[in-house]
Amino acid sequence: MVKFTKKQLIITSALPYANGPIHIGHLVEYIQTDIFVRFLKLKGEDAVYCCADDTHGTAIELKAHELSITPEELITKVHKEHLRDFTRFHISFDSYYSTNSEETKALADRMFHTLKDKGFIYTKDVETFYDEEVQRFLPDRYVKGECPKCAAIDQYGDVCEKCNASLRTTDLINPYSVISGKTPVLRRSKHYFFRLSDCSEKIEHWLTSNNTLQPEIVNYVRNWITEGLQDWDISRDGPYFGFRIPGEDNKYYYVWLDAPIGYISSYANYCKNDVQKAIDGWNHARIIHFIGKDIIYFHFLFWPAMLMEAGFTLPEQLVVHGFLTVNGEKMSKSRGTFLTAAEFADKYNPECLRFYYAKMLSKKMADIDLDFNDFRGTTNNELVANVGNFCYRALSFLKKNFDGRIGSVADNRALKQAILGKARAIADAYEDCNTAAAVKDILAISQIGNRYFQEEEPWKHLSTNRKKMHDVLGLAANIAKIIAITAKPILPRFSEGLEKQLNLGSLAWDGLHFETTEHTIGEPAILIGKMEEKKKETFPLQLMVAQVVEVKEHPEADKLYVLQIDAGNEKRQLVAGLREHYAKEQLQGKKIIIVANLKPAKLRGILSEGMLLAGVSKDGQVGLLTINDAKPGTLINAGGLAPGTSQVRIEAVAEAKLTVKEGRALFKCHTLRAGNETVRVEKVEDGAEIH
Ligand code: 2FM
Ligand code: ZN
Repeated sequence: MVKFTKKQLIITSALPYANGPIHIGHLVEYIQTDIFVRFLKLKGEDAVYCCADDTHGTAIELKAHELSITPEELITKVHKEHLRDFTRFHISFDSYYSTNSEETKALADRMFHTLKDKGFIYTKDVETFYDEEVQRFLPDRYVKGECPKCAAIDQYGDVCEKCNASLRTTDLINPYSVISGKTPVLRRSKHYFFRLSDCSEKIEHWLTSNNTLQPEIVNYVRNWITEGLQDWDISRDGPYFGFRIPGEDNKYYYVWLDAPIGYISSYANYCKNDVQKAIDGWNHARIIHFIGKDIIYFHFLFWPAMLMEAGFTLPEQLVVHGFLTVNGEKMSKSRGTFLTAAEFADKYNPECLRFYYAKMLSKKMADIDLDFNDFRGTTNNELVANVGNFCYRALSFLKKNFDGRIGSVADNRALKQAILGKARAIADAYEDCNTAAAVKDILAISQIGNRYFQEEEPWKHLSTNRKKMHDVLGLAANIAKIIAITAKPILPRFSEGLEKQLNLGSLAWDGLHFETTEHTIGEPAILIGKMEEKKKETFPLQLMVAQVVEVKEHPEADKLYVLQIDAGNEKRQLVAGLREHYAKEQLQGKKIIIVANLKPAKLRGILSEGMLLAGVSKDGQVGLLTINDAKPGTLINAGGLAPGTSQVRIEAVAEAKLTVKEGRALFKCHTLRAGNETVRVEKVEDGAEIH
C-alpha cells in the first residue's frame, strides 16, 4: 500500500529496448503502471511517471546492422514509434526519454566515480570471445550457441530465451560469431567489476526491512544471496554502442549499468534537464518501479546495491508482474498471436485492452492470459452491456424526459452507502495495484445502478409520479458520475466522454458523492461499441519463399525475365516483368515470395508456374517482396490464417489487396511472415499495392 505522505512519488516502468516495436506483452506493464499513476494523480498526489528507451548494447547494434542504418538512426526512429504506440494506449508519461542522453552519461560517470572511489569497482583480466576474422571482441549477443542449462540451440550469449537463464558468452556450447559465423577464440582483456559480493548484508537488510515488497520475491532473492553473490562485470570492449568508461579508449559501460540510471535521467528530463535538481528530487522522493519477473535480478540486487553505495535513495516498492500468454500459449508470430501495439490498436479499441488487463492484474507475479474469446466476452458483457449501457440509459432518459436537468436526488440511503463503500474499496484496490478487485467493484456499482433503474421502472411511472422519477434519475446520474471517476484510471477516454456528457468538467476523486444536483447535463452518446463476432477470415493465396537460381532474358519480350527458382521440394520456372527494375545480378540468389497455387500460364510463349510478388507504388517504382532467414519452400502466413490450397486464377492476387506498410507486406491488417521472419518489401513506400 502507498501510505500517502504528500512526498513526490517517482513511478517508472521498465525501459523498453529500442530494437523493435512495443507489443501487447509490453503493454501489460505500461497499462498497469499508467493506471496506478492516474489513480495517484486523481487523488491529488504529486506523482511523476518516468520512462525512456533503453538504447545501448548489442541488441540495438545488431538490429541497426540488419536494417543497414546506424544505431543513432535506429533509436531515433524507434523512439518516435514507441511514443506513437504508447499514446494510442493512453499511457501518460510525464517524461519519456532516452538512455542515450547527456544526463544518463553524467549520472553514470558520477555513480561510477563514487563507487570506484569507495572501492566498489575494481579491474581484472578475463577471457572473453574474440572473432579473429573481423578482429573484434564479441560481447553478449554477438555470440550464439547452445544453452548450457537447457540445451536449446541458437541462443544468444547473454540470456537463453528458452529457459531464461542468464549467461556469459563463454558459457555457450559450440559458440559461433554472429558476424562471421566462425568459432571465436578466447582472448584476455581488462574488465571492470562491481563488488556485488560486498553488498549482500546491506541488500538483505533492505529486503527484509521493507514490508511493501512482495514476499514471494523477497524469499526468492534471499535464496540468491544465501547461495553467494558474484561480482558483476560492468564493462564491454569496443566497438560497442554505449558510453565510454572515463579514462578508457575502447571500453564501455555494459548496457545494464546505464539502463536503470535512465530512470533518473528521465526524471532529470522532467526537471528541465537539471541533473543536480533531479538528484536532489530523487533523494527526497519515494520511488516505485514496475518491472517484469525476468529482470528481478537487476532490480533487486544490482540496482539497489549501486544506489545505496553511491548515496541515492532506494526504491520503496518494486511491483513485479508475470508474462503475458495469448490463448493459453506463448505469443507466436505463426499463430498470429504476436501482436504489436500498433496492430492491436488498428483492430480493437485500446481501452478494451486496458480494461481486460486491469481485470486480470493484481500485485502478483503470476502470468496473465489474454484469451480472445474471454476478451470479447469481457468487452461486450461487462464493459459495454453493464457499465456503458447503464450510463447511456440513465443519461439519455434524463435528457429525453427532463431536458437533461438533474433536480434533486432520490433519498435511498442503503444504495448510496453500498456504492460509496464500493468506491472506498476501489481506492484501496488501486493503491495496492489490485486492479482486478477495482474492476470487480466498478462492475458491482454499475450493476447496482442497472438493478435500481430496472426496479424503479421510470418509463412506467413517468406520467403518474413524475417528481419521484426525476429524483430516481438524479440518483442514477450521480451513479454514472461515480463510475466516471472510479473507472477513470483504467478508462481515461471513456471517463472523459462521460464527464463531457455529464457536463461536469474534469472530475477527481473528491467528486465521489451524491451531491450533484440542480445541474444540466450535455448530450448523451454511446461511448464504447461491442466487439463483432470474428468472421471466419481466410487467406486465398498460397505464398511461398523461393530462391532465384538462374535469370535469363525472355527471347520474345524486352520487359520480361525468365527465372529458374528453387521452391524447396521442387524447381519451377517463372516469367516476370522485372527487366526495367532489377539487374540480373540483383536477382541472382535472392529470396523472393511467389504465389504457389496460381494456375500455370504461358507468357509470350514461355511457361510461368506461379508468379512472384512485388510492391508497385503510384509513381511506378517496383520493389520485390523478400525475406532473409527462411528456407525456400516455407509457406507464408498472414496473422495465423491458413493459406489457400486450391488453385487460383490471376485475379485472386488483385482481389487479396495486399499492401505495403512500413516496409512490411500486409493482408488486411495481418503482416505476412514465414515463421517468425517478416516479409519485407524493397524500395516502395507505404500504401503501394502488391501484385
Ligand atoms: O529487459 C528489458 O527490456 C530492459 N530493456 C529493461 C531495462 S529496465 C531498466 F533497468 F532500465
Ligand atoms: Zn536455456
